[in-house]
Amino acid sequence: MRTTPENIRGFLLYKKYLPWEKQLGLVNQIRAVVREAPMVSLSTPTGKKLSVQMTSAGACGWFSDRKGYRYATSQISGKPWPKIPAPVLDIWNSLVSKVRKPDTCLINFYDSKAKMGLHQDKDERDFSWPVLSISLGDDALFRIGNTFRGGKTESFWLHSGDVLIMGDSARLCYHGVDRIKFGSSNLLKQSGRINLTLRVVY
Ligand code: SIN
Ligand code: MN
Repeated sequence: MRTTPENIRGFLLYKKYLPWEKQLGLVNQIRAVVREAPMVSLSTPTGKKLSVQMTSAGACGWFSDRKGYRYATSQISGKPWPKIPAPVLDIWNSLVSKVRKPDTCLINFYDSKAKMGLHQDKDERDFSWPVLSISLGDDALFRIGNTFRGGKTESFWLHSGDVLIMGDSARLCYHGVDRIKFGSSNLLKQSGRINLTLRVVY
């Protein structure tokens, strides 16, 4: 496990942080979460379907519909969100805090065509804690920008097992995923990419 991150404009990248066995374990834990809280295709407030499928674990889950972006305390079905798996929390404990736990883990699934436009993570009420992002499966071309819309951006690849921390000056920076290199990893049987983001919301 590497403990010295690369600092890319304030984004801290821990390359190959998770060994293969750990990655496989996390995938199994996420599969169990998805059985309790199936992935859904959400739409933006303007009615555009997001290409990434999503679900959540924790006290709340990120949600989007005509009424806007927000965190919901239960699934659309009314069921509570599953617990954040302990091995996922361990990563947060090691890299962020042993005292404050994240309120949610957003689970994104990217198939061959999925991408995510540049956006800020700003639906949380507390920006003093970082967002911790875990990449599993296929490589993703990640783009980062500024705290304002526009300006110079740069991109780099996120690989399976990488952990990225978006905190301090990077907490409100625009970021997104341009594309996936489908089939570049054999972690997931059917290829694709899972991204987990741990967030303090309240
Ligand atoms: C996100 O910004 O929610 C996801 C980023 C990623 O998939 O790497
Ligand atoms: Mn984001």
